[in-house]
Amino acid sequence: MASNGPDSHFPPLSSDVIQAGIRGGIWERLLFFDSVDSTNQRGLALPASDLPDQGAVLIAESQTSGRGRRGRNWISTPYRNIYLSAIFSSAALPDDATLLSLLAAVSGAWALRITTGLEVRVKWPNDLMVNNRKIGGILSELRFGSGRPGRAVIGIGINVNSEAGDFPEELREVATSVRVETGDMGSREGIIIEVLKQLEAWHGRLMAEGGTPVLKEWKRLSSTLGKKVRVALADEVVSGIAEAIDEGGMLIVRPRSGESRRISAGDVTELR
Ligand code: BTN
Repeated sequence: MASNGPDSHFPPLSSDVIQAGIRGGIWERLLFFDSVDSTNQRGLALPASDLPDQGAVLIAESQTSGRGRRGRNWISTPYRNIYLSAIFSSAALPDDATLLSLLAAVSGAWALRITTGLEVRVKWPNDLMVNNRKIGGILSELRFGSGRPGRAVIGIGINVNSEAGDFPEELREVATSVRVETGDMGSREGIIIEVLKQLEAWHGRLMAEGGTPVLKEWKRLSSTLGKKVRVALADEVVSGIAEAIDEGGMLIVRPRSGESRRISAGDVTELR
């Protein structure tokens, strides 16, 4: 049975390699942890005085209470995968901070495409998918300061070296990893460096050009648009064609009868 500690198969991350790979950009502070409750939680709790002007990054080898969307748990097997939170400080926030989630999905998809060759697509709102299985997820959280967003914490989890058996039974059909898809061990450092470079590049475009380029790229990478979908909301299920996303990233679903619905949060099943 595989151990869950660092070993020659699953070495710890090299912080030096990651630091060297991203030197000079907006990521002015990198914090590494062996184990935390949740990198997002730590990112939200970090005192403002510890945040640099633009951005900071928290990376953990494992999380004891990794958070997923909609209050779910994010399984965080030690030393196998990527658990990262990128913090955009208040000076680096765009007018519409909700676009940062779409930006993170585009960045994660491109980082994986570049480093692994996998054809990663984005399922609304921001699941990273390969062959209809989830390889990564994004959880964005805002912390407010005097009534307006003071920072955005963009949590990114990517399954890199988990084997099929590492996923609990109920996730085996729907989750995957770089290793499961390619048969090879993925370089966690290489993927992290590319994620941070992509985040920086897309963030630069968002600040300079507004949301249009990010939205356009999200649509190009989307597996959802144009499909028949079922969307589970908190208290109902909406079925129809996923027609579009609006400029704030909401999904517009056209049911067979009745008016189109604009959806801000839900779980999408893509039907065809
Ligand atoms: C999802 O449900 O799809 C979102 C998963 C987000 C997981 C990442 S792992 C790093 C960061 N810290 C957390 O607690 N969650 C996010």
